[in-house]
Amino acid sequence: MMEKKFGIIGKPLSHSLSPILHSYWFKKNKINANYSLIEIELEEIKGIIARIRSGALQGINVTVPYKQAVIPFLDTIVDEAKKTLSVNTITLNEKGKLVGSNTDVYGFEQGFISKINTHNLKQSKIFVLGAGGVTPSIIYALKKKGFEKIFVGNRTLKKAEDIKKKFPFIKIVEWQNIELEAESTDIMINTTSLGLKSGDDFKQEFKNIKKNLIYYDIVYNPQETMMIKKFKKRNIQTLNGLEMFIYQGQRSFSLWNKVNPELDEDLKQTIMSELK
Ligand code: ATR
Repeated sequence: MMEKKFGIIGKPLSHSLSPILHSYWFKKNKINANYSLIEIELEEIKGIIARIRSGALQGINVTVPYKQAVIPFLDTIVDEAKKTLSVNTITLNEKGKLVGSNTDVYGFEQGFISKINTHNLKQSKIFVLGAGGVTPSIIYALKKKGFEKIFVGNRTLKKAEDIKKKFPFIKIVEWQNIELEAESTDIMINTTSLGLKSGDDFKQEFKNIKKNLIYYDIVYNPQETMMIKKFKKRNIQTLNGLEMFIYQGQRSFSLWNKVNPELDEDLKQTIMSELK
């Protein structure tokens, strides 16, 4: 059978581990396919999507900064992609329509929400740092679960305000006030790129936080960001974004291949060995 072709579009892409993830599952499921990094400029989106329509590509993932930009080129967006206006997976359905889906919401639900103790969720204060490409998926998943007190702080205020248009129930925090806001927070979620390998990091110390704060970092490369290290030393519960990454990939894989690939320990080890 002909080799199927998949890939991920975005820029920059050098840090992406999606090729390793999907190649692992292609092999496990005996699917003849490859998955490549397709680093492109904004103007190239149209051409890439035309290749899915023509059958030269069987599907793609989309990452920053194009999760919203791809939408005008698709025939339809479904489910969570509609709710968040953020697409990370594109497929061609049986009727020849280009469909945009969002598997980040599922990834966050499985990789984070299902792992924490969620009684008292109406009272819990959530503080989301960042207002980038993945933030709408995080906010949508939190609200869907039943959290009500959701605060969002972003360096560029305008981007937090744009998110509030979609999710009017959020409260905006100015970046210079994030330390203060963190003091009364129960769950803090970093959706910024701060902490990424060889990138900038938080300058804030977050000295006065609750003893039972849960800190989630969407970053998984490095596995322990500076913030995770600092909080761990203070016995604060922390979790990184590795499982969210794996679960979003699992859902994309099953949309494309109609097989739900297994998430085994060997897979986690394979990915983690790439992070060293
Ligand atoms: P995009 O915003 O293009 O979708 P992203 O990687 O999804 O890209 O988002 C990057 C996030 O990290 C944004 O919230 C960004 O803040 P701005 O909106 O102000 O750019 C945040 N970020 C990146 N570098 C940062 C820094 N040095 N300090 C604070 N926030 C930063």
